[in-house]
Amino acid sequence: MADQKITEHTDQLPAHIGIIMDGNGRWAKQRGLPRQMGHKQGAKAFQEIARYCRDLGIPYLTVYAFSTENWKRPKEEIDAIMDLLRSYLREVYRHTEENIRICFLGNLEPLEQDVRDMALDVAQKSKDNTGITVNIALNYGGRAEITMAAKKIAQAIGDGTLSLDEIDEECFASYLYTAGQPDPDLIIRPSGEMRLSNFLPWQSAYSEFIFMNVLWPDFTPNHLDQALKEYRTRSRRFGGI
Ligand code: FPP
Repeated sequence: MADQKITEHTDQLPAHIGIIMDGNGRWAKQRGLPRQMGHKQGAKAFQEIARYCRDLGIPYLTVYAFSTENWKRPKEEIDAIMDLLRSYLREVYRHTEENIRICFLGNLEPLEQDVRDMALDVAQKSKDNTGITVNIALNYGGRAEITMAAKKIAQAIGDGTLSLDEIDEECFASYLYTAGQPDPDLIIRPSGEMRLSNFLPWQSAYSEFIFMNVLWPDFTPNHLDQALKEYRTRSRRFGGI
């Protein structure tokens, strides 16, 4: 299926897509299932979309897996999301032929030790994979990221390793989790909600936004095709004319 679709997207492909994987809870509720089942189905959708993006030749994909605000959820639900992450990380660790490079955006410190260790192992083991870079935003919050960068910059100024004159947008961006990566060209939010929810606020300054009326667990490569089609119609001027 991927081969047939690839020809449709050869031009104007985004270099970086961000996805807010929203609607898992509602998907489960509609079926009378516990919320965890929505996340389970959401994790499957994520895997299919990551492979599809890789096959299309999209170099970067960032998914919002767990926000700094998600700690407010019941422990049972948080544990279920962490278990899905464990399973996914175990799978990518074993299946190097997937050729996916995994990076993490967020503060991994508060995570359980084994998840943190697995995350670091997978990031290290997959660092030379060339198929696609998948950023998993985990315990991520955009404002926290910007605050962290500001603190690191203040520290570097204090240490004398950075001067005030050197601070510009490029320098600032190099202190973010996404250092060295292109900004997202396209941000997709399924589930009908139309907000950013603290997802990549710095990096999305010039992103195109596409909001879709599908719950994330039902999101398929066909939905991504629709979003890419819509993206191709957008005229991006970056403040110019
Ligand atoms: C938002 O939907 C989704 C989350 C907070 C969790 C997303 C996590 C996964 C898809 C699974 C783990 C990820 C990986 C990378 C293996 P919601 O629960 O807020 O949905 P609702 O708005 O319908 O309640």
